[in-house]
Amino acid sequence: MRSHPSTRLFIIAIDGPSGAGKGTVARAVAASLGYRHVDTGAMYRALAWKAVHERLKLEDESALATLARRAVIEVSDGVVRVDGHDVKEAIRTAEIDKAAAAVARQPGVREVLIRQQREIGVGGGVVMEGRDIGTVVFPSADLKIYLDASPEERARRRATDPSHASGTGNAAVQDVASALAERDRSDSTRKASPLALAPDAVLIDTTGVPVDAVVQRVLALAARRR
Ligand code: DC
Repeated sequence: MRSHPSTRLFIIAIDGPSGAGKGTVARAVAASLGYRHVDTGAMYRALAWKAVHERLKLEDESALATLARRAVIEVSDGVVRVDGHDVKEAIRTAEIDKAAAAVARQPGVREVLIRQQREIGVGGGVVMEGRDIGTVVFPSADLKIYLDASPEERARRRATDPSHASGTGNAAVQDVASALAERDRSDSTRKASPLALAPDAVLIDTTGVPVDAVVQRVLALAARRR
């Protein structure tokens, strides 16, 4: 940790829909502060990968919750492993996009993963990104950011994201846009901790804003809370 020993280690929550820039911004903010970066979406994706691999029914809450309890998921600082398998690339496909949204709807699954997320973040020194970090996982986070961007821009970013299998640049932006809209609907309308803006979160619209400007804004907000 690069932070001064007398400075308290913050929990920084970054929420928002897919393609809003959470991953890029969270990674850069964590690197700048010497904090850990935890991508909670990768936890839901890793679990979905395992469920697909084991041919579980994605509506079977009890089977999925049991799987969540026994699977060992590691997602700190760019590593994504489930039961020792490196799934970093395998979880970035259109199939897992859909499966992860289905798995994340299940309250029994969320209960297990939220508990793990709290254990990971409790000591601070963490930038945690997801959908419900500032609302449910850490309602008393030191800084809450909600990143958003226009649906067109989010679809364009996803379609040109080299880390995502649809991100070859050839994927029709229109196809990506409709899949994204469907996932947004699933994430925002589910009963268990839906994507929502916490009342005390700072909303940043990243449409047309360079990543570095967003990162500087978040760092300035963090510095002001010291
Ligand atoms: O951020 P992402 O696209 O990698 O997330 C994958 C799925 O998991 C997506 O459908 C939203 C869901 N998710 C969630 O419900 N809660 C979180 N804290 C993080 C992700």
